[in-house]
Amino acid sequence: MLDFGNFYQLIANKHPQNDLSSWLEILPAQLATWQKENLDSRFSHWLNSIEHLPSVTTPLRLDLLHGVSAQTEPALSTGEQQRIEKLLKTMLPWRKGPFDLHGVYIDAEWRSDLKWDRLLPHIDDLTGKTVLDVGCNSGYHLWRMVGAGAKLAVGIDPMALFLCQFEAVRKLLGNDQRAHLLPLGIEELPKLEAFDMVFSMGVLYHRRSPLDHLLQLKNQLVKGGQLVLETLVIEGDEHQALMPGDRYAQMRNVYFIPSVPTMINWLQKCGFGDVKMVDLSTTNQNEQRTTAWSTEQSLTDFLDPNDASKTIEGYPAPMRAVFTAKK
Ligand SMILES: C[S@@+](CC[C@H](N)C(=O)[O-])C[C@H]1O[C@@H](n2cnc3c(N)ncnc32)[C@H](O)[C@@H]1O
Repeated sequence: MLDFGNFYQLIANKHPQNDLSSWLEILPAQLATWQKENLDSRFSHWLNSIEHLPSVTTPLRLDLLHGVSAQTEPALSTGEQQRIEKLLKTMLPWRKGPFDLHGVYIDAEWRSDLKWDRLLPHIDDLTGKTVLDVGCNSGYHLWRMVGAGAKLAVGIDPMALFLCQFEAVRKLLGNDQRAHLLPLGIEELPKLEAFDMVFSMGVLYHRRSPLDHLLQLKNQLVKGGQLVLETLVIEGDEHQALMPGDRYAQMRNVYFIPSVPTMINWLQKCGFGDVKMVDLSTTNQNEQRTTAWSTEQSLTDFLDPNDASKTIEGYPAPMRAVFTAKK
């Protein structure tokens, strides 16, 4: 079983600007229920792998500013590296990375560092901030938020695999307590109004009701806090959004992909101010591809083999935009 006690302790004290203590009224019960419902043989296997990872101690060289990497001095032996690699490979697929941990390079399906590099110049300074990353997956961006100065980075993602990947990485980073992942969906959060910045990246189009998603994000922000939202977008005017049929780029759970003006309209309708689109990019195979750490199909398999501007279903190929907005 995973123990969230460190996080509970961290938030127990009332803080004038970022008070998360009221969360303790429901969080322990929610997480206990989640563990009971998710404790199957795979989850137990992953927990066992985490347990067998070495507890790395200082002196430890961490770099969370240029990537997510850790190395002891002297470096771990080849035998120890191989053992770490074998344990981490019990948690395939690694979707978001890369991580460079004691000579083991987790080359995940997504180069999440590229997304981070695109958005970082356009968002508020993270120094000293308390931040929330909704749909954080393995937690790659949580560590980058810490590297950029965040005091506390909290991620939520309901999937057991991603929680285990996060805890494995945390252990190899020397049990760093500046980031925490809670296995929850955004819809399970009370109105905390305690985060200086809230990130929702790659989540909006998976939500059945995008406007409710935006309001749920707003509920987590302090007054004046910043939302950083990244989503798939289509070309079009402020009245257009794509609601795909059964699948979009082979994904079943895609509901609405807005145009950039529609996304701005949605944010403004939800009461956000200072709404800006700060980056627009087309996803390519440099950023999303099959690797030894994620061997399933990837971007090239999701595009029309004769026309890369279309998905295999005939929709516009994935294009992504980053928006910032203030509460
Ligand atoms: C496309 S991934 C994006 C991961 C990461 N934020 C990024 O931008 O690379 C979407 C993530 O959202 C998570 N997710 C799905 N439904 C969610 C919900 N209701 N609340 C929070 N996270 C959710 C998924 O498990 C998945 O890890």
